[in-house]
Amino acid sequence: MSTLTHSPAWRALEAHRRSLLGVRITELFRADPARAERFSRGFGRMHLDYSRQLATQETMQLLLALARQADVEGWVRRMFAGEAVNDTEGRAALHVALRTDQVAFPAAGDVMPQVRAVRERMRETAVGVRAGTLRGAAGKPFASVVNLGIGGSDLGPRMATRALRACSGAGVRVRYVANADPADLDAALAGLDPATTLFIVTSKTFTTVETLDNARRARAWLERSLGPRAALAPHFLAVTANEERAREFGVDAERIFPMWDWVGGRYSIWSAVALPLVIAIGMDAFDELLEGARDMDAHFHTTPPERNLPVILALLGIWNINFLGAGTHAAIPYCEDLRELPAYLQQLEMESNGKRVDRDGKEVDYDTAPVIWGASGTPSQHSFHQLLHQGTRLAPVDFILAADGEGDQHARDLLLASALAQGEALMSGTASEEPHRRVPGNRPFSILLLERLSPEALGQLLALYEHKVFVQGVIWNINSFDQWGVELGKRIAVDLLPALRDGEVPPQVNSATRDLIERIRRLRRPHA
Ligand code: F6P
Repeated sequence: MSTLTHSPAWRALEAHRRSLLGVRITELFRADPARAERFSRGFGRMHLDYSRQLATQETMQLLLALARQADVEGWVRRMFAGEAVNDTEGRAALHVALRTDQVAFPAAGDVMPQVRAVRERMRETAVGVRAGTLRGAAGKPFASVVNLGIGGSDLGPRMATRALRACSGAGVRVRYVANADPADLDAALAGLDPATTLFIVTSKTFTTVETLDNARRARAWLERSLGPRAALAPHFLAVTANEERAREFGVDAERIFPMWDWVGGRYSIWSAVALPLVIAIGMDAFDELLEGARDMDAHFHTTPPERNLPVILALLGIWNINFLGAGTHAAIPYCEDLRELPAYLQQLEMESNGKRVDRDGKEVDYDTAPVIWGASGTPSQHSFHQLLHQGTRLAPVDFILAADGEGDQHARDLLLASALAQGEALMSGTASEEPHRRVPGNRPFSILLLERLSPEALGQLLALYEHKVFVQGVIWNINSFDQWGVELGKRIAVDLLPALRDGEVPPQVNSATRDLIERIRRLRRPHA
């Protein structure tokens, strides 16, 4: 048994969970008329309502004791000081430096001059593209920007470009290509003019095969209409920590934006990785996004745990996962412009905390990150909410709502009424003589209500989730900043690639994979 599951705080929570067996959330409301107020907190442009979690004041006290036992406050201090909290890679995790004005990251040195210099270059480039002064090989301004990147080099800016579409105006069109499937790039390039298309190759390592393959195909597409490779430099920018490889690919040194080893891919939306986003929404809106995140950082850094939003969200997750047995957690934005948020959170949470070995190298005997999933409401109601209401699994939800926004008011009211109605149904359910009509209720969820989907509110929301993930990692005693598990599949894919052509199937490959490779070769049309 690990020290964690053996610890007094953990044991106390287990005993407490037994005492709550059979308790209904509706009863908790009856017993405490102030529950809605007591179990909600506001910060900045958001309000967190967690009154419909299956938790009492005692639950929260015991969870806070668990956080104290794990020294969450100490870890927060260490992260903000720039200490190497990513211990398997010996690095700091300083994404907070990317949105701050302050200079004090004692353990990591003064990173701020580099951060400011890159921000300035992003501003100049975005202005140049948006104003049409930065031009392609044929002297034409850019009408389209295509970002080639995957994982953290795609999901953040892709999500935020859609979320902040209201800031874009009718300027340059920005598209994102992540998949190795050629269909992704082909669809993105459909209708684009090579002479007015700018590619941004975004890859921290500049070794990710999907991104490099797409970049080569993009270059071939340009070559076909704009002439030799040497003339194509104006059509490429790169964002990377591996300048040498970017230059080898053919990107001019002054067109390369740096990344740093102290920023993980999934925490990099605040860096030059956001260049396509900045081109889409403008630097002023991006500054507001940074400002929102900065506010959340200050809140997280200085607010006592019992009033600290990321800590509260993290503890509720721990309660649901480790004590109530939830294996999944859904994020359902009732906000179509946040429709890419679940995919972003999937990487943030599952790549960060999908770990089975603790910081001491020991296998854990408790669950870590749940399966994160979700989609935008209201369409989600007509696909998977049936399971939320009547299924056998406990599937806690974060509903994310914006009180105000653009567009038809009736439609917006319908959207919000639908979200609130889901909450009522999940909590209260309904009785019926007929078993199949009975909805049990008592299903836990939280509501994050944003004033509106502004850059500032989005910055606060994303930083909230980043810090939530960190707190959970601290409590589970795992390193949230590495991702060794992803490497294995990448390596095997590189080994298998020649076999799909006419090469040898590597001898160590399993017979099922070998059969499939042979079948794929037979099924291929000769020209493929
Ligand atoms: O999927 C693994 C991963 O390493 C992510 O952590 C990262 O965001 C993604 O690949 C892309 O990596 P890169 O930016 O180096 O191309």
